[in-house]
Amino acid sequence: MAESMKGLSRSARCAELSVGDVGKTVTVMGWVAKYRNKGGLIFIDLRDRSGILQLIFEESDCGEAVYEKAASLRNEYVIAATGVVAERSAVNENIATGRIEIRVEDLRILSESETPPFEIVEDSKTKDEVRLKYRFLDLRRPDMQRNLMLKSKVLGLMRSFMANEGFLEIETPILGRSTPEGARDYLVPSRIHPGTFYALPQSPQLFKQLLMVSGYDRYFQIARCFRDEDLRADRQPEFTQADMELSFVDMEDVLDVNEGLIQYVVKESIGVDVARPFPRITWQQAMDEYGSDKPDTRFEMKLHDISAVVKDCGFSVFTGALAAKNGSVRGITVKGQAGMPRKKIDSFVTMAKGMGAKGLAYLAVEPDGSYKSSFAKFMTEEELAAIVKTMEAEPGDLMFFAADQNTVVWNVLGAIRLELGEELGLIDHKKFNFLWVVEFPLLSWSEEENRLVAEHHPFTMPMEEDWDKIDTDPLSVRAQAYDIVLNGYELGGGSVRIHRNDIQEKMFEVIGLTKEEANEKFHFLLEAFKYGVPPHAGLAYGVDRFIMLLAGCDNIRDVIAFPKVKDASDLLTEAPNTVDPVQLQELGIAIVEEN
Ligand code: AMO
Ligand code: AMP
Repeated sequence: MAESMKGLSRSARCAELSVGDVGKTVTVMGWVAKYRNKGGLIFIDLRDRSGILQLIFEESDCGEAVYEKAASLRNEYVIAATGVVAERSAVNENIATGRIEIRVEDLRILSESETPPFEIVEDSKTKDEVRLKYRFLDLRRPDMQRNLMLKSKVLGLMRSFMANEGFLEIETPILGRSTPEGARDYLVPSRIHPGTFYALPQSPQLFKQLLMVSGYDRYFQIARCFRDEDLRADRQPEFTQADMELSFVDMEDVLDVNEGLIQYVVKESIGVDVARPFPRITWQQAMDEYGSDKPDTRFEMKLHDISAVVKDCGFSVFTGALAAKNGSVRGITVKGQAGMPRKKIDSFVTMAKGMGAKGLAYLAVEPDGSYKSSFAKFMTEEELAAIVKTMEAEPGDLMFFAADQNTVVWNVLGAIRLELGEELGLIDHKKFNFLWVVEFPLLSWSEEENRLVAEHHPFTMPMEEDWDKIDTDPLSVRAQAYDIVLNGYELGGGSVRIHRNDIQEKMFEVIGLTKEEANEKFHFLLEAFKYGVPPHAGLAYGVDRFIMLLAGCDNIRDVIAFPKVKDASDLLTEAPNTVDPVQLQELGIAIVEEN
């Protein structure tokens, strides 16, 4: 029988009590995490979001009625207990409140509970589907509570830092027009204007630029963003950005504010010192050395380019790749792994093929200096020695090589590097390696659309020194764009924006947008830009990703209270769902049955 709260008030959360409170009478409330009836003595572990506290019921303290009530408690009952804080005889070093217990005098059962479908414990081994179906129980688990509390803390720290730096928090619409971030939009039908749709924002990009035109000069927002894209461990359809835009600045100013922000947030949230300035590498260097535009710099194993060394060799796989446009042969050296079993090597070959490579070649230098290789027979001794030298390999080392288009080579070797780094234990998981990747290409070629597309978005300022190549060699033009990377994850990205009409018009032309099309898509921005635009630049973080890394999790779902699963559905509420035909009718929408 659930009792009421009448006349009761909580004096502290469970883990807020300590030895200093011994002798005080307190009232605590929470969930029964564990009960043990020792006959004459009943022990309860009480749980709330602060932690666990032991309650002890002894008939001589609490009387028969309360004792009997205590005997009826089961896991996850919600109770209020009033009693005296006492020092414990058997200290439990595993919990913060392990030196004390409450000798209960009064007990109310505020709510009973059915037996939960899984135990509410740290590091649950329960299947994800079950955890997410019963998310309200999963969120009771201490690790989930820590994650969400960390997120709350970080958001608060970000807000206070940004406010101190003179940023204004300004909201932008959720119901808007499609912005050009490149993913598919989530659409919301309009009832009042049948046949038209709002798009949920993929980011506040255009609005924050408008705010700069309006003179707000430093904008910040914790913004919800929506992108209908394939989900991954670090990607959700609905996620949160810490979004900013600054006027009268160049790239250096943006990076400077953000290094300050990160240093402050990381120190205040998890106590880790981050040194400034953060290392910076260009996109080209990132690709050449790590095969990735978001390098994990916690370990070495850099890529080496052996194209020059093998250009005239007898191995047609290599020379063939080099004959093609943008072809190269590159490799990684795996220290001390010459003895890697053939089966293991083959698993990397399979992995490479799965990523679109035609194969993966290897060369091992045995400790005695002899070679074991899939291609040594096509090479001269001199060529092999030159490869080993370029690869900075020594006897006992293993090398993997990919020969293909640069993009394939980078992709494959970058992924194998990460896999090996993890498998061979080369990664120090205590490190927080923040890194700026700068000088991204402005454009890339889309095979699908058969046209040039903006790498970041079409409002990104090109680098001045490259702009004269926009007609002759557009792919070589670099952008004033930057990403902030942490331990191999893209935490955030941004750019200096185009504020000059001539450059903007040219940019649209290059990506194949006619004046009319550009106007149709962005008329409000182009119109605004006619009335005095300050030079501006900005950046946005994926907050969920940031928290995931600070919390040491490997899935973004663990830092989002109510996340979606791979097929973008919510297992708890079972969204998306069908709606009432009346709702559809009002919207003028008819559902076409799929065959
Ligand atoms: P961008 O598209 O790079 O830039 O997004 C910024 C950051 O948001 C995070 N992010 C995501 N996190 C979780 N799930 C997703 N589906 C997802 N997509 C992106 C990433 C990413 O680095 N308007 C520009 C920023 C700017 O130029 O100021 C933008 O949105 O961590
Ligand atoms: P093959 O001549 O196809 O039997 O290949 C000989 C070796 O080269 C095998 O170890 C293949 O895995 C490897 N190989 C094939 N294509 C490539 C490629 N594009 N890049 C690197 N290695 C390759």
